[in-house]
Amino acid sequence: MIDFDGLPVYVEPMAVSDLADVLNIERMSFPSPWSSRAYEYELRYNEMAHYFVARIAGLSNGNGHGLVGWLKQKFQPTAAFKSPETVGYVGYWLMAGEAHISTIAVRPDMRRHSLGELLLAYTLNDAAKHSAHVATLEVRVSNTTAQQLYLKYGFDKVGLRKAYYSDNNEDAFVMTTPTLNSAPYQQRLQRLYTALRMRLQESAFFHGARHLTRPSS
Ligand SMILES: CC(C)(COP(=O)(O)OP(=O)(O)OC[C@H]1O[C@@H](n2cnc3c(N)ncnc32)[C@H](O)[C@@H]1OP(=O)(O)O)[C@@H](O)C(=O)NCCC(=O)NCCS
Repeated sequence: MIDFDGLPVYVEPMAVSDLADVLNIERMSFPSPWSSRAYEYELRYNEMAHYFVARIAGLSNGNGHGLVGWLKQKFQPTAAFKSPETVGYVGYWLMAGEAHISTIAVRPDMRRHSLGELLLAYTLNDAAKHSAHVATLEVRVSNTTAQQLYLKYGFDKVGLRKAYYSDNNEDAFVMTTPTLNSAPYQQRLQRLYTALRMRLQESAFFHGARHLTRPSS
């Protein structure tokens, strides 16, 4: 199991109050973004749904983005503290022992800093805790960036859904993990988790937020 304590970034369940940030990232990330109503349905009514957001400790959505926001907070201590900013999200449906990853996205200015990996790692860990046997997803054949992430985490391309995406009739690869709780896969995940943890702890990008602690909920 993965230990997320003490990192400058953290993952927690998505709430309806996160939707403004989530929809903002959604619109910047997908050609056919989901609506607010779709997310509200997922959060309020879909009992199979598990949605999470990634946040950076100390970055608030009221003071600007990224390190600028953190600096403003640090040097304007009287400014009202707003809840930490959402920088990415992930969701999966737990169906018949399978974790079907429905979405994953990181805010464009925060990409390539291991947040997508953190969200995927968290999901696989959570799915294993819920006794899912495998994780599966669909990905556009042109989305080689996301495919690289999934390949890194041991997903294999196991099928093709023709014209799966209605906006441009693009095909989807179906990608699936090995058995989540198998010893070899768990060993692979543990190696990835350890490397990810070290990278996040040592990241210069997150350096400004490192000394701040996770706010109590
Ligand atoms: C896919 C996505 C979530 C990755 O998030 P990210 O935070 O930038 O990814 P990370 O920094 O954690 O990278 C993890 C791995 O992903 C792969 N990867 C990420 N960006 C990549 C890029 N531009 N080119 C190639 N590989 C890339 C690499 O394997 C990387 O591992 P490495 O650092 O050891 O090379 C992000 O690009 C995104 O939000 N894309 C738009 C939404 C989307 O396409 N979602 C997937 C729908 S199926």
